[in-house]
Amino acid sequence: MEFVKENINAINDLLKGKSAFEIITYFNDELGDKITFGTSLGAEDQVITQMLASINSMVPIFTLDTGRLFPQTYDLIDSTSTKYKIIIKPYSPVNTEVETMVVENGMNLFFKSIELRKHCCQVRKLRPLKRALEGRSAWFTGLRRSQSITRVDMQIVEWDENSNMLKVNPLMEWSEDDVWDYIKAHGIPYNPLHDQDYPSIGCQPCTRAIMPGEDVRAGRWSWENPDTRECGLHK
Ligand code: ADX
Ligand code: SF4
Repeated sequence: MEFVKENINAINDLLKGKSAFEIITYFNDELGDKITFGTSLGAEDQVITQMLASINSMVPIFTLDTGRLFPQTYDLIDSTSTKYKIIIKPYSPVNTEVETMVVENGMNLFFKSIELRKHCCQVRKLRPLKRALEGRSAWFTGLRRSQSITRVDMQIVEWDENSNMLKVNPLMEWSEDDVWDYIKAHGIPYNPLHDQDYPSIGCQPCTRAIMPGEDVRAGRWSWENPDTRECGLHK
C-alpha cells in the first residue's frame, strides 16, 4: 500500500475493526522512522504514548512548546519521559517571531480578536509543527470524533493538507470512558488538571475548566464560537 492521498479510503478500509494498538503497530511496521507522534500530554496522548513506548520507544515524539503551557503540563513532560524512558522533544517557536508579535500586539493578544488569536497559534504552534514534521510521511495524533462538533467527520486515517502527509488518529472511535478506563487500568500518568474539570488542556491563557453539562472542549478559547475553536493543527 502506498501512503498517498488517493489511497486514504483504502487504508481506512484495511484498518477497519483493528484496535488502536494494532493501528499503531501497523504504521510502526510499515513506516519505521518516517512516523512521528505529536503529544499535548492530554489524556488521549498519554494512552498513545504508553502504547507507542511498548511497541517501539524509538519513535520520535514531539510536543509543541508554545511557552504558554500550564506548569502541570511541563511537569508531565518530565515524568512521562522518565517513566517510559522516552524523549519528548519540545519544539519552540522562533524567538524573534514571538518578540515581534508581542511588541506589536501585547502579551495577551489572543483576547483581542480571532485574527490575533490565530496569529498567535500560527507563530507558537503551526510553524513549529512544520519543523517537527520535516522528513516524515505520517504523524499520530490523539484526536477523537466525539470531542467536538468540529471533529465528527474525521477518520482514523486522514490526508493532512497542511503538512502533505498522513495523519493517523488511532483513538478516533474511542469514547471519553474508553480513554479513562485504559489510563486507570495501566497506571498511566496524567495531567492533574483533568481531575479539576479540565478535560481538554491547551495553553494556559486559552483554557478554562468546564461547567457541568458543557462539552469537553468548551474550555478551549471559550470566548469564541464553538465552530472557530480549533487552532489550525486540525482542519
Ligand atoms: S488542539 O488543536 O485544539 O490543540 P487538542 O488539544 O484537542 O487539539 O489535541 C488534539 C491532538 O493534537 C492531540 O491529541 C495531539 O496529537 C495534537 N496536539 C495538540 N496540541 C499539541 C501540542 N502542543 N504539541 C503536539 N501535539 C499537539
Ligand atoms: Fe497562543 Fe492561545 Fe494559541 Fe496558545 S492556544 S498558541 S497562547 S492563541
